[in-house]
Amino acid sequence: MRFSYCPANPPESMTHSAQRLHHRQEQIESEIAALAPWFHNLHLPNGVETAPGHFLGDFPRYKWQALAPHLPARLDGWNALDIGCNAGYYSFELARRGARVTGIDVDPHYLRQAEWAAKELGLEKAIEFRQMQVYDLADEDEIFDLVLFMGVFYHLRYPLLGLDIVARHTRRTMVFQTLTMPGMEVYEDTWDHPINERDALNAPGWPRMAFIEHRFSSDPTNWWVPNHAAVQAMLRSSGMEVTAHLGHEIYLCQPASTDAPTRAPYDITPELRSASGRAVR
Ligand SMILES: C[S@@+](CC[C@H](N)C(=O)[O-])C[C@H]1O[C@@H](n2cnc3c(N)ncnc32)[C@H](O)[C@@H]1O
Repeated sequence: MRFSYCPANPPESMTHSAQRLHHRQEQIESEIAALAPWFHNLHLPNGVETAPGHFLGDFPRYKWQALAPHLPARLDGWNALDIGCNAGYYSFELARRGARVTGIDVDPHYLRQAEWAAKELGLEKAIEFRQMQVYDLADEDEIFDLVLFMGVFYHLRYPLLGLDIVARHTRRTMVFQTLTMPGMEVYEDTWDHPINERDALNAPGWPRMAFIEHRFSSDPTNWWVPNHAAVQAMLRSSGMEVTAHLGHEIYLCQPASTDAPTRAPYDITPELRSASGRAVR
């Protein structure tokens, strides 16, 4: 943990208020240690950070900085959903902009961090954290103005099921981010091919995902890694329109019009209901 100012032992000459601050920082330090390990480096009051030595740098602050200018500066009146919220970095940023936020995650360890940090930041009234699988959204009636679906897709064993459910819970804007395969090629002629013309399937920009049978980056929860073309194709097929590519692996989307030719070419709802086991709309 890093502190902007805080001597190891308070000199006796310290004023009472400086000593109180010192003890408070010691307390925060021990609470952060008790809640470790951290994946999000949260910047807490008084310069305290939860994961200053993060292997990805100041994560996810630099990702938020790439995204932040493309979202409305104020989100008052918006409801937002942060899927795979982890320790809540994005939930906190959306709440600061005025959104009413729901953060969901499967992992109670990360949700404990998020709930603790929300109190430290004084944002607990604006955010509800819930332990949920992304697929459980199929049971939810609420539709969200803004959905952050970041860093989760490649962890799903059933990725299109997850994406179809999330797309149907998005009213205005979805931010999608995933681990991707190298390369930015897009093979455009994907509308139809005869069954004996399969070479196109091997073209560099054909939409495809690498399946991870065992582990990737030592993580057994990494299941699928799509290429850039597949990310866009799947988003379109789920009923989204990609409006911007915000740097590496971040896609800004909105629901496509109901008659958009890029949507799945027939009604997938019966299959979606059967696969999810729910009466998803
Ligand atoms: C790589 S972290 C991404 C965290 C955050 N969204 C971000 O982009 O920084 C993946 C998070 O998704 C959560 N997660 C994984 N599978 C999930 C699922 N099926 N439903 C909901 N959350 C999931 C993990 O517990 C973890 O907190």
